[in-house]
Amino acid sequence: MNILVIGGGGREHAVVKALKKSKDCSRIYALPGNGGIAADAECYPVKATDIRGIVSFASSHAVDFAVVTPDDPLVMGCVDALEAIGVPCFGPDKKAAAIEGSKIFAKRLMKKYNIPTAKSEAFGDPQAALAYLKDHAYPAVVKADGPALGKGAVIVQSYEEAERCVREMMVEKIFGASGEKVLVEEFLTGPEVSVLTFTDGKTVVPMVSSMDHKRALDGDRGLNTGGMGTVAPNPYYTEAVARECMERVFLPTVRAMNAEGRTFRGCLYFGLMLTSDGPKVIEYNCRFGDPETQVVLPLLKSDLLAVMRAVRDGRLNETEVEFSARSACCVVLASEGYPKQYETGFEISLPRTEEEEEIYLAGVKREGGKLFTAGGRVLGAVKTADTLQEAVRGAYALAEKISFANAYYRKDIGKRARAALGEE
Ligand code: AMP
Ligand code: GLY
Repeated sequence: MNILVIGGGGREHAVVKALKKSKDCSRIYALPGNGGIAADAECYPVKATDIRGIVSFASSHAVDFAVVTPDDPLVMGCVDALEAIGVPCFGPDKKAAAIEGSKIFAKRLMKKYNIPTAKSEAFGDPQAALAYLKDHAYPAVVKADGPALGKGAVIVQSYEEAERCVREMMVEKIFGASGEKVLVEEFLTGPEVSVLTFTDGKTVVPMVSSMDHKRALDGDRGLNTGGMGTVAPNPYYTEAVARECMERVFLPTVRAMNAEGRTFRGCLYFGLMLTSDGPKVIEYNCRFGDPETQVVLPLLKSDLLAVMRAVRDGRLNETEVEFSARSACCVVLASEGYPKQYETGFEISLPRTEEEEEIYLAGVKREGGKLFTAGGRVLGAVKTADTLQEAVRGAYALAEKISFANAYYRKDIGKRARAALGEE
């Protein structure tokens, strides 16, 4: 089969590498892919948000199946457009992708169907938001309604900070239309868990759990980023917690989407906080997480393409989805300065990878057979091993063999997870 993958980050590199192992996969196209993905797929310069360009590519390249991974094309209706020309897709349609596209929609859904989440109020008017924030407890969380590259949730410590945040989002519109409406949310505490699931709207199959490290600096300090590293499984996600999440969160969400006429088929991502009051939803994503995918897919033992096709065709209950009981760690190497200003264009030197090591390339470009940095998050160094400790050590050993000017990475990926296991 000829497979089309939309997107061009580290997550897409992990998806492409997993698809390559699938028995029915003969050829992979990536739009736009990147300089690293180019070693594993045929990349063409069509942007992931250029829906017309994607449709036109698919109709002229005998594409048998498409995998749409990033949030923007999903929210814009890329799956609807490809299905309309007869290309079966893995990924939710536009109506179902609203679960990530609008945080206000997601909150209303959770309220209506009693899915545990932080208490919150939605506002379209800055004065009303500020009046509400005047008497709110601090810290509080202010969230832009629409997509904001992972930077739309701001934890504010005081009314003064809240005022500045509301002004930036709603008046100065630093996130454009995404911040015209905001949510003000209760601040929750507890360990965070990411659970990616496969669902066809009837069956929900959770993948191995993971833990993201979103802040830029060690010790969870600094700005929020797209994610600086991940480990899987997440030790806080015990079997008891998993059962509770299935009953109280995963199945109710999938049923709620059906009841709203927005059946979700694809990867539904649950960002959860395990509070003293039980698991609560922090966010839904309508897609694989980045860099969660880089630790989850290397642990998948089943054929990814077969699972994706079963999701598309509503046959997930008949399909084997098996994960290894091993562990994985991904350390993201970024350009110094990310998520703010950073320089790019530096040559990257990569070691040959050993067994159970992977390098997933993200912000890179290829010129004259060489790789150069071209983005904030440049690549992920991944190791799978029998224990979390070995996986973390292995990922750092691999990271140390990779070099480019201005490389920066966190030194404490997996530290909290290992402490939870009593390893430190
Ligand atoms: P989001 O963009 O919704 O994924 O939020 C980014 C990060 O902000 C999350 O991973 C949490 O660490 C934090 N966060 C979001 N909502 C809350 C909340 N209600 N309480 C505490 N922390 C939160
Ligand atoms: N790592 C979080 C996300 O993909 O949104």
